[in-house]
Amino acid sequence: MTIGVLKEGNGENRVVLLPEHAAKLVKKEITVLLEKGAGLASFAADDSYQEAGATIKSRAEVLKEADILFSIHPPAEALSKGKILISVFGPLTNKPAVEKLVKEGVISYSLDMIPRSTRAQAVDVLSSMATVAGYKAVLVAASALPGFFPMFMSASGTIKPSRVLILGAGVAGLQALATARKLGAVVEVFDVRAAVKEEVLSLGGKFVEVEGAKDEASAGGYAVEQSEEYKKKQAEMIQQHAIQADVVITTAQIPGRKAPDLITKETVASIKPGSVILDLAASTGCNCVLTQDNKTIESSGVSIIGNSNLASTTPSDASKMLVNIYLNFLDLMFDEEGKLNLDVEDEIVQDTCITRDGSVVNERVKGA
Ligand code: NAI
Repeated sequence: MTIGVLKEGNGENRVVLLPEHAAKLVKKEITVLLEKGAGLASFAADDSYQEAGATIKSRAEVLKEADILFSIHPPAEALSKGKILISVFGPLTNKPAVEKLVKEGVISYSLDMIPRSTRAQAVDVLSSMATVAGYKAVLVAASALPGFFPMFMSASGTIKPSRVLILGAGVAGLQALATARKLGAVVEVFDVRAAVKEEVLSLGGKFVEVEGAKDEASAGGYAVEQSEEYKKKQAEMIQQHAIQADVVITTAQIPGRKAPDLITKETVASIKPGSVILDLAASTGCNCVLTQDNKTIESSGVSIIGNSNLASTTPSDASKMLVNIYLNFLDLMFDEEGKLNLDVEDEIVQDTCITRDGSVVNERVKGA
């Protein structure tokens, strides 16, 4: 079997195979082809892959010769029938990518379709990248802030700690809370799911509550759409707390829907000049109505940072996490004798398989 690792484009710095892991695959008698320079942005040189037993090839050669292609973003080039692609391409909303793979007859897996269950944690690409993004969001916001995060007591006076408001206490929000606390900020957190209150308190945050939220057990631990009355109360409460904040980090999402609008123009106008809003939901429709994805804009003296590619700005460690996920996923695709088995009963593999034999095989994608 031959695995091909592609170099990512569009400013993506992460890679899904590092030299030490290439060596492990080679030991299992798997041929590893790497597109020239694929690991460079993650500080892994072609030489070190070669020393691990991988072969460096051109992109066209990798695309042609590999049985299984590993990439984060799916390649734009046409792929041949029967090729296996393991990637992350948002099939619920990315219709063009799905149509392309159907037309080509590619057997595709999208790792962002993995269920967020305990068993799936070892292959949970969304949680691992949200952890990276939550951490990095705080560092980016802290460096954009014209003040300190921690309290400073010196002969030249006492500086109060910054106040951080986090909207959404899922994976990214809790990581942002932990990081902001480590930097010494006072942190308030709001989420529609009351179930996260204990976690917020245990990480040293203050939980902001708005009564009357719909919280459905059937949503599998995710948030659900709220009533108009609740949204109004929520907007008022967010404004009251945002006015006092130096930094607002927004991470609220409802799977399969546009991210909820939580910060209105009026709220931005009422926030102190010099404050920073970092909108992590920029790629799914934004939590602040003024956010522009992958841009920093200023409104009433408030910096609004939209960045949907924060995980790529921590490429060394983010790549280590991704490599483990891709290899754990590959393990699930083998049968007991170590042979690649595409008919595996494994629920995780089934949930992530999107196209096969020229059709969409995933029920959620069919219904989207
Ligand atoms: P998650 O699903 O674990 O957490 C989202 C949280 O938002 C949940 O706790 C949910 O209850 C809460 N929420 C939903 N509606 C809300 C509302 N109206 N008010 C307050 N809270 C609400 O999601 P995760 O993995 O933490 O991701 C968060 C965001 O970060 C997503 O938009 C995701 O796309 C984005 N992300 C961004 C990255 C980047 O590089 N910028 C990388 C990874 C994730």
